[in-house]
Amino acid sequence: MRNPLSLVQTYKMTNHKITVAIDGHSSCGKSTIAKALAARLGYAYIDSGAMYRAVTLYAMRYKLVNSGNVKVQELIGVLTEIKIEFKYNPSTQKSETYLNGENVEDEIRQLTVSQNVSPIAAIPQIREAMVQLQKEMGKNKGIVMDGRDIGTVVFPDAELKLFVTARSEIRAKRRFDELTNKGETVSLADILHNIEERDRIDSTREASPLRKAADALILDNSNMNQEEQLDWVMRKVRERLEGNF
Ligand code: CDP
Repeated sequence: MRNPLSLVQTYKMTNHKITVAIDGHSSCGKSTIAKALAARLGYAYIDSGAMYRAVTLYAMRYKLVNSGNVKVQELIGVLTEIKIEFKYNPSTQKSETYLNGENVEDEIRQLTVSQNVSPIAAIPQIREAMVQLQKEMGKNKGIVMDGRDIGTVVFPDAELKLFVTARSEIRAKRRFDELTNKGETVSLADILHNIEERDRIDSTREASPLRKAADALILDNSNMNQEEQLDWVMRKVRERLEGNF
């Protein structure tokens, strides 16, 4: 019987690192899987959605978006003034998102940002700028990145690609619990509407729409707990690292 932990220790010590690309529908727990996997493997974790959310927050603050209507040319014009970084916070042991030097990690998760992000993420020039940053972050492998176009556009050569989904009612309930636990007052119906609307915009936009890469594995986690899904993904990682997939 193989001891999975010792195998992981071995992988951490070797130089053999892979790239893991995780795409999928809104609020299906991609970042939960990605963070847990990165921690297990000693890899970097990048939340590409946080980058689109940070651009959206900037646009909201400067009134360049309102109810999903974007002042596209004006936003493209100020793109070079938007600096997005991730910094590790040792006290929370989490990587946090910074917009022009300000920690915006909590603010970008609010429902108001979710309600404006998909039209902004559909703008090709915004995507080009983000994708360039993302490719740079992953150039040495040893990275887990989640989003909508990671396996198709950002890292088309990733050794492991996952396409994650779950039933929309389950996704809405998970996001409702997450925001409510943070003290935000939200309605379950608004969240369900938002995730279905984001899925629609993300999947039908012209610029790198959300779609499953041909070589991605589907993970429907509707009936899985976090431990079960991490075990499932770790089995796939092991197969890649051992070269027998
Ligand atoms: O966590 P959640 O599923 O709510 O979304 P997210 O990963 O934070 O992404 C927020 C939004 O950013 C998505 O609905 C997409 O519109 C956009 N996005 C994208 O277009 N491409 C990515 N690689 C990541 C996010």
